[in-house]
Amino acid sequence: MTWEYLRTPELAGRLLLIAGWLGTRVAGATILDLNCGWAPLLPLLPDTWQRYVGNDICQQFIAEARRQSVRAELYVCADDDLPTLDRLDILVCLGYACGVSAAESESLERSIKRLVARYRPSAVVLEAWAQVAASSRLLDLVQTLQLGGYVVAGAWSLLTWPAVTTPQSLRVIFFLEVNS
Ligand SMILES: C[S@@+](CC[C@H](N)C(=O)[O-])C[C@H]1O[C@@H](n2cnc3c(N)ncnc32)[C@H](O)[C@@H]1O
Repeated sequence: MTWEYLRTPELAGRLLLIAGWLGTRVAGATILDLNCGWAPLLPLLPDTWQRYVGNDICQQFIAEARRQSVRAELYVCADDDLPTLDRLDILVCLGYACGVSAAESESLERSIKRLVARYRPSAVVLEAWAQVAASSRLLDLVQTLQLGGYVVAGAWSLLTWPAVTTPQSLRVIFFLEVNS
């Protein structure tokens, strides 16, 4: 399947780093894991969030995600068809392929911008395949968020060494916070 590379052990590093950064921010928060796949971040976060909402168009992934937590709200739906939230504190979008894969959501960037404009989450996490991110729309998206009042609180690139089992193993992560 197109996204199976995300299950390789070397891809776990992105999740551990993100879970670490989010660790102290999760308590009482409403988190949206946009296009979450099987929600691999979910079991790594402290179970202190108020709401964990995830969506994906793949029914099989959402069925798998539901086995990770009975409390999380996981929807089989597109990112431009999400249920309305009463608030959103943390928006995460992991595995962003920057439009390189035809299997990726065409509406992803639009949805991120719409969600940020509507809910103004205090934290936004964007994680992507670094080779494509460097030359592409991810940096434009980060810049748009910066112009909208967000600051880059941290940016990381992760390189697995020595065993690289997938070309997608080089990752980049942007942590953005609203500039209060
Ligand atoms: C690169 S994978 C990322 C999965 C997960 N976020 C991760 O990083 O492990 C992209 C995901 O987007 C989902 N997807 C594609 N088009 C979508 C759409 N229009 N709305 C919601 N999800 C979509 C795919 O099914 C896939 O699970």
